[in-house]
Amino acid sequence: MKNIAVFVSGNGSNFETIISNIENGNLKCNLPLLVTDKPGCKGVERAKNHGVEVYEYSPKDYKTREESEIAIIKKLEEKNIDFIVFAGFMRIVTETLISKYENKIVNIHPSLLPSFKGAHAIEQAFEYGVKIFGVTIHYVNFEMDGGKIISQKAMSYEEGDTICDVERKIHEIEHDLYVKTLKKLLEEKE
Ligand code: GRF
Repeated sequence: MKNIAVFVSGNGSNFETIISNIENGNLKCNLPLLVTDKPGCKGVERAKNHGVEVYEYSPKDYKTREESEIAIIKKLEEKNIDFIVFAGFMRIVTETLISKYENKIVNIHPSLLPSFKGAHAIEQAFEYGVKIFGVTIHYVNFEMDGGKIISQKAMSYEEGDTICDVERKIHEIEHDLYVKTLKKLLEEKE
């Protein structure tokens, strides 16, 4: 069975769904490590509740991003991590991490890429008045939200929905799509 590490920067609801699906046997992999650049975030609490080891670091403690990634890689190797899942990890990674885990890092983004890249995708799409929202899962490369697309799911805007309604529906789609996509990827990589 593959060992995956999940990287988060905040709430960790996608992490929670992934670990629950591992615990109930739907996803066949181990999740021995959660990595975060935001020590003490909600995702850390969730990981601890599920007995998952946490690697927390503060980017400001490192002179360069590369140095912080060398330390992360050491931890990933210690835990024999085969595959990396970004779930709300709000950091652009460098060649150091990407070349070590080529085609083995995936990310989830709350828009139909290549539209609305970046940290405020849902708000921007809502402001724009789009009628079709969506979620994308893609491989991670050097460009923010720029790697090859693995899966997408669209959602129609329903008249009268507030931004909170849209956010809630998108997160529901994210949880479902991430589990289905990971299941497929892990089977392919067996
Ligand atoms: C998700 O909307 C994800 O697409 C984006 O950040 C959010 C993370 O949510 N990259 P959570 O931390 O999993 O609750």
